[in-house]
Amino acid sequence: EVDERVAVLTRDMPATLCVPIARRDRVLGAMYLRSARPPGFDDEDLELVAAIAGVAATAIENARRVAALEKEAERLKSALAVEHTLVGRSEKMARIGEVIAKVARSDVTVLITGETGTGKELLAKAIHANSARAKHPFVAINCAALTEALLESELFGHERGAFTNALALKKGKLEIANGGTVFLDEVGELAPALQSKLLRVLQEHEIERVGGTRTIPIDVRVLSATNRVLTEEVAARRFRGDLYHRLNVVNIEMPPLRERRDDIPRLATHFLQRFASKAGRPVDGISDAAWRYLKQYDWPGNVRELQNTIERAVVLGSSAEIVPDDLPEALLDRGSPSAGAALDLHGAVRDTKIRAIHEAVRQTRNYVEAAHLLGVHPNYLHRLIRNLGIKTQLEHEC
Ligand SMILES: Nc1ncnc2c1ncn2[C@@H]1O[C@H](COP(=O)(O)OP(=O)(O)OP(=O)(O)O)[C@@H](O)[C@H]1O
Ligand SMILES: [Mg+2]
Repeated sequence: EVDERVAVLTRDMPATLCVPIARRDRVLGAMYLRSARPPGFDDEDLELVAAIAGVAATAIENARRVAALEKEAERLKSALAVEHTLVGRSEKMARIGEVIAKVARSDVTVLITGETGTGKELLAKAIHANSARAKHPFVAINCAALTEALLESELFGHERGAFTNALALKKGKLEIANGGTVFLDEVGELAPALQSKLLRVLQEHEIERVGGTRTIPIDVRVLSATNRVLTEEVAARRFRGDLYHRLNVVNIEMPPLRERRDDIPRLATHFLQRFASKAGRPVDGISDAAWRYLKQYDWPGNVRELQNTIERAVVLGSSAEIVPDDLPEALLDRGSPSAGAALDLHGAVRDTKIRAIHEAVRQTRNYVEAAHLLGVHPNYLHRLIRNLGIKTQLEHEC
C-alpha cells in the first residue's frame, strides 16, 4: 500500500482512493477510484465510497447466498417430488431420489434391478408420477405370471376371432397405456418370441394385435424390472442382447434394506401410522426393546418384510406400544439359521416348487403330463424349470 501511495505521489499521478468491499473480515473485492483533478480525494469522499462499499458488500453476499439457496432448493425439490411415495432419507435413497428426478424428465427406458421387496414397482410408479406422462395411465404387467400365449394377447391385444376364445376385440396393455408408461415386471422371464415383438415396439413405436393385419402406432414409455442378472441371461442366450440394451438405457439398482438401515425407523413409523389407522387401533409407538430388534435384523425380504412385520404387530399386538412379543420369532433370535430360513418366504416357495416339480416329473416322466398333474400350462412349467435352474437335475428323471 505504501508503495502505491509513494508511486502516486512521486510520479505526480492522479490521486487514488481504494476501499475494501468486506463483510465480517472477509474481503469480497475492492472499490478503486482515481482522480485526475487536484486536490484528489478528501475524508468526505472516503466516507462516501466506504458507505457505497458497505452496501455493495451486502448486495454481493446476498446475491451469492440466493444463488446457493436456489441451487439447494432445486436439489431438494427434485428429491421431494418423490418423497411422498418412497419413504426413506438415507444417503442411498437420497441419491435414488435425484436419479428419479432426472430420468422422470425424459422418456429414457429404465431397468430397475434389486432384491425382492426393495420397492422396484414403487420406484417405477414414482418415475411415472413425476414425468410429463403422469396424467396418462401407468400399466404394470408381470411377465412371469402368464403363459406365453396369454401374455402375448395381454400385451398386444387381439382381434375378434383371432383364436377360439377371442369372441370380441381386446385392446392390449401396451395400447391401453398409450400416452403413459408401461411397467414390465420380471422382464427377464419374457419368452423369446415376445422379446422380439417387444423390441419392435421399442424401435418402431407400433404394435399389431394378435390376429390383426394393421399396425397401430403407440406412444409409451417403457420401464422394466427384474431380480435376475440380465447380463447373465444375455450371455446364456436366453435374453436378446439388443432388447437388453434398449431396456437398460438407465439402470437403477434398488439397495437392499440392510444396506440403508437409517431408513428403518422412518419406514417402520410410516407403516405403523398407516396400519394403526387402518386397523382402528391406537398404537402410540414402538418400545425401545422392539426398536433394537427391528434395527438389527437383516431383512432378507426388505421393505415388504418390514411392512408385513409392522402390520402383523399392529393386528396381533395388544398393548399401546409394539413390544418384542408382537414381532415374529425370526426377528427375535437373530443368528438362528432355522429362523432365517422360516422367514425367507421366497426361498420356501422356491423349495416347494422344486419339490413338486421333481415329484410330478418322477411320476409321469413326461413334461406335458407333469404340467397337467401340477395344474399349470406346459410352457409355464418349462419356464419354471429354466428359471429354477433344475433342467439338468430333471433330465435324469425323465
Ligand atoms: N421406500 C418405500 N417406502 C414405502 N413403501 C415401500 C418402500 N419400498 C417398498 N415399499 C413397499 O414395500 C412393498 C414392496 O415394494 P415393491 O412391490 O415395489 O417391491 P419389488 O421390488 O417390486 O418386489 P418384488 O421383486 O418382490 O416384486 C410394497 O407394498 C411397497 O409399497
Ligand atoms: Mg415387484
